[in-house]
Amino acid sequence: MARKNIAAGNWKMNTSISEGTQLAKALSTKTVADGTEVIIAVPFTHLQSAVEATASNSKVFIAAQNCNENDKGAYTGEISVDMIDSIGATHVVLGHSERREIFNESNELLKAKVDKVLEKGLTPIFCCGENLEIRESGKHIDFVKGQLTDSLAHLSADSFSKIIVAYEPIWAIGTGKTASPEQAQEMQEALRAHLAEHFGAEAAQNCSILYGGSVKPGNAKELFSQPDVDGGLVGGASLDAEGFGQIIDSF
Ligand code: PGA
Repeated sequence: MARKNIAAGNWKMNTSISEGTQLAKALSTKTVADGTEVIIAVPFTHLQSAVEATASNSKVFIAAQNCNENDKGAYTGEISVDMIDSIGATHVVLGHSERREIFNESNELLKAKVDKVLEKGLTPIFCCGENLEIRESGKHIDFVKGQLTDSLAHLSADSFSKIIVAYEPIWAIGTGKTASPEQAQEMQEALRAHLAEHFGAEAAQNCSILYGGSVKPGNAKELFSQPDVDGGLVGGASLDAEGFGQIIDSF
C-alpha cells in the first residue's frame, strides 16, 4: 500500500444514530483531493448506517473502533472482525490509548488483534503513544518504539505494508494541548526509522503515519506539512462536519 494522506475521524462513544447518520451523510458529498483518504471510526451500532450513508463517495472508508481477537464463539458482548467485514467496514482502530488505559489492553493482546484484522483482510489503524510522565522522563521515543516492536515486529514486510500507524501522545488527547509540529515530526521520523529497521526502507516509506491529539481545523495544516506526518486521527473535531471538512482539506 503506497503512502497516502489520511484524515481519520474517531467518534468514540458519541452521537445518536440519527446524529451519526447526518454526520456521515455530510461526508458523502465531500470532495476529497486525489491521494487523500477519509476514514471515520464510528460506534459498532453505527457501522451499517455509516457504510450506507457514505457508499457514494469512494474516498470515504468506515472503521470500527475495536474488535475481538477471536474468530467467533462464546464471548458475550464482543464483536468479531468477520462481523465488521460483513457490514462493509474496511478498517479497525486498534490500541487506542483509551482502550489501553481504561480496558487494560496490552501490547500482546494488540498483537493478536492486529493478526486477526490482517488475516481477515481489513486494515488495522494501530495507535501508539506515551503519557505525560514518560514524555517528561525523556524516554518517550524508546517507549513508543517498544509498543511497535511488541505488537508489530513479528509481521512480514508484506503484512506490515497493510497497516496504518497513528501516533497519539496521551497528554494531547482531548486536552486541547497539541504536540507541536516539531514534536510530532521528531517522534514520527524516529518511528519510521524504527519501522525501516524491521521491515525495510521501502515498507517504512510507504507507511502512512498519522498524528492524533487535539487536531483541529486551525492546526491541521501545520501538522500535516511535516514530512513524516501523513495525516491525523481526529477525535473531538471530527464530530463537527464543517470543521472535519476543513481538516480533510488541510493537506
Ligand atoms: P482528540 O482525540 O482529537 O479529541 O484529542 C484524538 C483521539 O483520541 O484519537
